[in-house]
Amino acid sequence: MAIAERIENKTARIAVVGLGYVGLPLAARMAGVGLRTLGIDIQKARVDRVNNGISDIADVPTADLAPLVASGTLSAHSDFSVVADADAVVICVPTPLSKTRDPDNSYIVNALESVGPHVRKGQLFVLESTTYPGFTREVMAPMLEKSGLRAGVDFHVAFSPERIDPGNERYGVKNTTKIVGGLTPACSAAVKALYGAFIDHVKAVSSPDAAEMVKLLENTFRAVNIGLVNEIALMSDKLGLNVFEVIEAAATKPFGFMPFYPGPGLGGHCIPIDPLYLSWKLKAMNYQARFIELADAINTSMPAHVVGRVQDALNDHGRALKGAKVLVLGVAYKRDIDDYRESPAITILDLLHKKGATADYYDPYVPSFREDGHTRTGIASLDGLADYDAAVIVTDHKVIDYGDIVARAKVVVDTRNATKNVTDHRDKIRML
Ligand SMILES: NC(=O)c1ccc[n+]([C@@H]2O[C@H](COP(=O)([O-])OP(=O)(O)OC[C@H]3O[C@@H](n4cnc5c(N)ncnc54)[C@H](O)[C@@H]3O)[C@@H](O)[C@H]2O)c1
Repeated sequence: MAIAERIENKTARIAVVGLGYVGLPLAARMAGVGLRTLGIDIQKARVDRVNNGISDIADVPTADLAPLVASGTLSAHSDFSVVADADAVVICVPTPLSKTRDPDNSYIVNALESVGPHVRKGQLFVLESTTYPGFTREVMAPMLEKSGLRAGVDFHVAFSPERIDPGNERYGVKNTTKIVGGLTPACSAAVKALYGAFIDHVKAVSSPDAAEMVKLLENTFRAVNIGLVNEIALMSDKLGLNVFEVIEAAATKPFGFMPFYPGPGLGGHCIPIDPLYLSWKLKAMNYQARFIELADAINTSMPAHVVGRVQDALNDHGRALKGAKVLVLGVAYKRDIDDYRESPAITILDLLHKKGATADYYDPYVPSFREDGHTRTGIASLDGLADYDAAVIVTDHKVIDYGDIVARAKVVVDTRNATKNVTDHRDKIRML
């Protein structure tokens, strides 16, 4: 029976490789519509947690996961042999940068090596991990062909970018259009059938390469616009203007303008990283991706600018940064989530330490975090806020009372406009 038919009549089994921020919500969604879903992860503890019905990903409440596991619709495995039972295999493993800021595809390559021995005729293989245009066709398909079967003939191959925005309550897996690009029209039909079973709209493009480029356009668009608005913030600072006031006013134009907001620098597993996958690919073709490189240079300079603002704020109070006690508010890379990957707060903490300040952090979502083999633990409460010489708002979590922060802190550097509704003690606030 063809894969589309097995998906339609819910007899298909789907393997999801990598049960992180992307893979677990996807697996839960598939299982939620009755597709037998086999999650695979190399982290034994994560596999055990899922099999106990416990979710460590905020977008998948344990209350939703537990019944799917209890009914046997969703199960987790460390052994890749379950791939042989699957009609479709979706890969959602990390794609970070190497130390030299080049694409690190080793997680995908390792996953494909583990999948390889279990490839069989008629299966569909989908890559969701962000990568550069050409990877699915040039690297993934040949790796799967080591099975002796031919991609696009004996089995289907496609790329489908993951577009979720963790913590977004309006748009999730179901109502965000899914882009798919198959190696052949039959591959596209198979991948459309898979996602059409649990996502409202699926849009096919002509190739995996085009689908890979869609994702990189989306995230480059964000990185470049944030770079632009960060530079507007640097210019506004020199002009003595409040950049947030300027953006809010510009955003009243109902056409031809889309507001982006400046901040302490880019964070997360996507926006700071993905555009560099594209520029790396083009470098090999002797083409310099100028917008990407400029945006990267501006965005990565923002943490140093924030530390400069802290230094200025302390200076206004006759205090040097060296020897000062500084509290960083928020280390998650954006508000109301617990993900601190690539967070600019980590760079800010490091820069403050290097300049001789004592820097602590407070984040109700991230009580501690690991970076370069070390664990850093935040302060447990804001009771001692008045003992700090300066507080710097790096992540504007909604649970924090910014009026109270401003009232009790000696001086506040606000990189997110979190204090915009605070009316008292405004003389203590320094904007980005
Ligand atoms: N997090 C996001 O918001 C987001 C959004 C869109 C796209 N993406 C992309 O999705 C991909 C996955 O990101 P994520 O945030 O889910 O990562 P993650 O680190 O949260 O999860 C990845 C999971 O893969 C597992 N893993 C690693 N190597 C493996 C292997 N060889 N076999 C099986 N499992 C393995 C890890 O143990 C982990 O549980 C990345 O390419 C990322 O760029 C992420």
